[in-house]
Order: sequence, then C-alpha cells, then structure tokens
Amino acid sequence: MAMIAKKCPQYQVKIVDINVARINAWNSDNLPIYEPGLKEIVESVKGKNLFFETDIETNIKEADIIFVSVNTPTKTFGFGAGKASDLQYIEKTARSILAASNSGKIVVEKSTLPVRTAESMERILNSNNKGLHFDVVSNPEFLAEGSAIADLENPDRVLIGGHQTEEGLAAVEEIAKIYANWVPREKIITTNLWSSELSKLTANAFLAQRISSINSLSALCEKTGANIDEIANAIGKDTRIGAKFLKASIGFGGSCFKKDILNLVYLCEHYGLPEVAAYWESIIKINEWQTTRSVKRVLRSLFNTITGKKIAVFGFAFKADTNDTRESPAHLVVRELLEERAIPIITDYKALPDAKRDLSDVLDKVQLIEEPYEAAKNAHAILLCTEWQQYAALDWQRIYDSMSKPALVFDGRNILDGEKLKKIGFDFIGIGKA
Ligand code: UDX
Repeated sequence: MAMIAKKCPQYQVKIVDINVARINAWNSDNLPIYEPGLKEIVESVKGKNLFFETDIETNIKEADIIFVSVNTPTKTFGFGAGKASDLQYIEKTARSILAASNSGKIVVEKSTLPVRTAESMERILNSNNKGLHFDVVSNPEFLAEGSAIADLENPDRVLIGGHQTEEGLAAVEEIAKIYANWVPREKIITTNLWSSELSKLTANAFLAQRISSINSLSALCEKTGANIDEIANAIGKDTRIGAKFLKASIGFGGSCFKKDILNLVYLCEHYGLPEVAAYWESIIKINEWQTTRSVKRVLRSLFNTITGKKIAVFGFAFKADTNDTRESPAHLVVRELLEERAIPIITDYKALPDAKRDLSDVLDKVQLIEEPYEAAKNAHAILLCTEWQQYAALDWQRIYDSMSKPALVFDGRNILDGEKLKKIGFDFIGIGKA
C-alpha cells in the first residue's frame, strides 16, 4: 500500500487495523517490521496520501476500493485442522465491510486464499437488503520478504482476477489502472477469479518444490562426492530450468510456503484428488527431513553427544534481510539441540526480539546474543541457519581462536568458503558436499 501511495499521489491510501498498537507503531519512527527500503518509502508518503488509522468503520464507508489483507493462518481445529486455511478473519472482514457500507465497492482479495474464497465473500457482501452491489477481485501478492521494495517497483507480473461479466471486467480494469501508474501494461495479467486465486498457491508450491528437489539431491551428493552447488549451476544454465531457487539449504521457511502448500494439499483432498495431494505434501516432508537430518549430521560430527555443550546458532530469521522468524528452520534446529540437552546460543542481526518471543517457553535454556563473535565464544560448533551475507565477511580466525576445540562449522546455507575454514582448522560441514 505504501508503494501504491508513492506511485499514485492521486489516490488516498488508508491503512486500518483492529490492532491499535500496530497502527501506533506504523505512525511512529520505529516501524513494526524490518524490510530494506520500506522506511524511506513510508516516510515519504505518510501524512500526505498514506495514513495509518484505527477508525475502521469510517474508512470502510469512505473507501471506493478495499484491499483485504488479513491473515489466513493454517486451521488448528475442526475439519481440515493442520492443513486448511482458517478463514474466520476473511469472513469477519466481509461482514464488517457490509455493516459499515452505504455504497457499493470493489473488494480486493490481497490475502492468499484457497480457490473459490471469493464466492463466499460475494455471498456475504451481496446478500444485503441495502440494495448495494460489491465486486470481488483477486489480486495476489508475489513479493518476497527482504526484497519487497524491488519486487514491488519492478514486479515480474501483477495478477488480477475477476468475473468475466461486464461489471467484473470493469472492476478488474479499475485495479489494473492503479498498477499501470508504474507497471508496464503487458506485465499486468488479468484472468478469471479462480485462476487468480489458484495461481498464488501454485506459484509458491512450484518455488518450494524447486528447493525440496535440490535439497533431496543434496543428500545424494553427500553420499557420492558430487557437489550440489556445482550441480545447481550446471542444470540452472538450461534455460528451461533456470538458475533461481536452486540453492540447497537447511530448509525453506517463511510464512507462505508451508502454509500455502498445506492449503493446496487440503484443497486436492477436498476435491477427491489424493494422488495430487500426496505429490505436493511430499515437498513439505522433504523440507522437514532436510532440517532434521542436518542436525543429525552435526550431532554425528560431535561424537554423538552435545549434552551441556554450547552450540552457536548463526541466524534465526527464515531468510536474510528480514526480522521475520515464521517457520524458520532455525526453530526446529534449536528445539532439536534442546532435546539433546545442548545450550543453544542464538545470534541474528535483526530477529532476536522475535526469537525471544518464539522461544519464550525455553528462555532459561537458551542464550540470545547479538554479537556473533560473542555468541561463538567457547562454543563447540556453529550452525549457520540464515544466509545473512555478513556471516561470510566475519573474521573466522578470530572466531576459531575463541571456540572450544575441535571446532565445527555447519554451513546450512552454503555461503561460507569451506576450504578456507578447513585451513584455519575448523571441521566443516556444508549442505550437499561430501
Ligand atoms: C515467498 C515467495 O518467493 C513470494 O513470491 C511469495 O509472495 C511469498 O512467499 P518469501 O517467503 O518472503 O517469499 O521468501 P523466499 O525468498 O521465497 O524464501 C523462502 C525460503 O526459501 C527462505 O527460507 C529461503 O532461505 C529459502 N530458499 C530460497 C532456499 O532455501 N533456497 C533457494 O534457492 C531460495
């Protein structure tokens, strides 16, 4: 929304939320999320045509277009628990929109949703006795965290789905007009509503599938002496395969991949397609296996016992350049270290506040230390879980000198120079390398 405000001074953009503390944070100098470049954009438009407010009712009443961006977590109860999306916030939002409106509006689904959610939204919105008509449009977001601003400035595509009726097409065009202020028209794709909803889940499933594919083969590399980075480079040169998203790692994390694939699996089961469901579910299984087997490799190298040993975890965010820790593989790593009664020392450039929250039940058993050199002191091993580029630039000799010997580095993101570390004296384990 900040990007829309920046690119379209002719629109007034109002952000509303039931969480007053969060709105206050957006209105303060300390934004509630870390995203490179975001602060500058928000500051350039805040108070001009971008406003953060708590009066939801008035803002609904006055809006012509409403982007619904509420969360759709995985359901934890009832039918579909553990897989289906919990749509209670979507439904509540639709009801609030209807209750506060005295004119028809375009309602845009920005949240990632199961296919055919728009149908339920429309039923709620359009069964009213106020004589109002609402058009529901799907406009999924494809930005990735850490590179959000660049992704929004120059998206591969913008996707807008709507009903193929005169009114539906007009609503789609209204949304396309917003993006056309900075995105070339040929990159603005329009489809029917259901294709748009399903494309978002499909895109995330395909991206995650590439990571699970390369990660599954990283295990074979470790057995055979092949090197997964060399393989990724060799196959990525094939333009049909492409080079991106082939980086073997300790596992993917983030709020989207697991949740969206589980949702896809649920949809396939719901529509009676168990083979398709099993195919996509295996991507998540491989991902969890990859993280667990990585910890096992480390354990083996530490003589199968880490009880009472300090193990430094470098990075807790699910990827670099974000403070977001949702579904981060580092979670599982820390929990498994605790199972083995090790003492995890966690360091991260931005994610320690979130790590503290996530690990609140075990805070007496872990240490959170911002400075990586401090975190590594007296540790028996370093497990690098997040690809913060700063880690590659550390003084590894200094780190080695301060650690217990033999000192082990496990590079869960393949960003370190293993040969250099071995020369210093480290035992070194990389992903997909013998
Ligand atoms: C993802 C999609 O990329 C984005 O289009 C969608 O809108 C939201 O979900 P995000 O989760 O923010 O974005 O980050 P992404 O860059 O996709 O990384 C996801 C995870 O995969 C991270 O843990 C990352 O470290 C990992 N990853 C990524 C790999 O392990 N290997 C790779 O080659 C790429």
